[in-house]
Amino acid sequence: MKVNQSVYQQRRQAVLQKIGTDGIAIVFAAPEQRRSNDTEYPFRQDSYFHYLTGFPETESALILNGQEQSATLLCRHKDPDAEIWHGFRYGPAAAREQFKFDQADDISQLTQHLKKALPGHRQLYALWGLYPQRDTQMIALWNEINQITNHHSIPGSTIASENLINLSSILDPMRLVKDEHEQSLMRIAAEISAQAHIRAMRNTKPGKYEYQIEAEILHEFMLHGARYPAYNSIVAGGKNACCLHYVRNSDQLQASDLLLIDAGAEYQMYAGDISRTFPVSGRFTSAQKDVYDIVLAVNQASIDATVNQADWQIIASNATRMLTEGMIDLGILQGSVEENIDKQLYRRFYMHGLGHWLGLDVHDVGGRFDHQGQPILLQPGMVTTIEPGIYIAAADDIPAAFHHIGIRIEDNILVTENGNENLTASVPKTTSAIETIMQQ
Ligand code: GLY
Ligand code: MN
Ligand code: MN
Repeated sequence: MKVNQSVYQQRRQAVLQKIGTDGIAIVFAAPEQRRSNDTEYPFRQDSYFHYLTGFPETESALILNGQEQSATLLCRHKDPDAEIWHGFRYGPAAAREQFKFDQADDISQLTQHLKKALPGHRQLYALWGLYPQRDTQMIALWNEINQITNHHSIPGSTIASENLINLSSILDPMRLVKDEHEQSLMRIAAEISAQAHIRAMRNTKPGKYEYQIEAEILHEFMLHGARYPAYNSIVAGGKNACCLHYVRNSDQLQASDLLLIDAGAEYQMYAGDISRTFPVSGRFTSAQKDVYDIVLAVNQASIDATVNQADWQIIASNATRMLTEGMIDLGILQGSVEENIDKQLYRRFYMHGLGHWLGLDVHDVGGRFDHQGQPILLQPGMVTTIEPGIYIAAADDIPAAFHHIGIRIEDNILVTENGNENLTASVPKTTSAIETIMQQ
């Protein structure tokens, strides 16, 4: 997919405007991660760096100079020998040209560039805490430069920590509202993820191993250009579903079990995140169906409520109430709805939140409250997951028919002007639709 670089350029310009002439911002590419001896994990670019550059290489940095209102990329130089071993790299000249930076230079010149650019800027914006070694490097330089500027009585800089600002305060609200370009990529990530879940449903049979179903999912992702999952796939048969982040995926599937799959593709850096739960045999038992239909009703009611100007806290607390009522109806909770909510007794069976923002990161940035502690109301362009669940471990006070039932139903919802778009609607989720697809 050919990407129009002006998307990234516009984002850089928006940040430059926000930091103003007193601010300078520095964003680093992700480092490579060693897997064993001299081999690395597949490289994934840092989400923030990608958001502002689209530039795919490690050992790179972006400097946004507020005084000049300019963007400079530092990256690896062209190196024909290294490229024979490790593949193509742009080098500064081609990177500047193709990714529309004002300037570009060799990453070895980073310190020199900063020494030139930092003086006169009062605020240094960086993603503090993300790469601690970089923080140390930045603060050392900042202090060194401020000592020089103070020594020469050049006004404009102090070492005060209030001048070290987290760039996430600017970037997170931007990333929270997805632009058209992001929405189109997220539709693709969601659809590839959806097709993978359908493939998993069609290929599940008693006696297969969880990792064999995982293989079907990864196969479908990769076939459609999603080279990696957005997170480690959860393929959890039977009681394994009651472990929320079960990723061992090593057990054999039993006919009497449900299979909970939580898997999403990463496409062009954007995440899908879908959960579906279905019977290994292809037919729900009546106890499985009873629990399933409670979770499904909450999934659907919460999606319906995920609209422009809605308050997430209200959607989430309504979901908790519905789940609690359902647990009382099932007989796994006793007493009143109020008591079970007040004492959070429902948490024995529903121990996570209703959902999270989705985007470049599967648990995307943005938070649910603003700096004043006020809820951030939903608005067009935001994408959230909706993922209610009920997880019933075996216990003496629980009827045996419910033991080891773990169900989560998760969709990806884009808020629009007039309602919402369920990006993951193409995976079946009623019990009858699931049973039908599993027979095909
Ligand atoms: N797949 C992780 C989550 O649903 O939050
Ligand atoms: Mn999720
Ligand atoms: Mn998930």
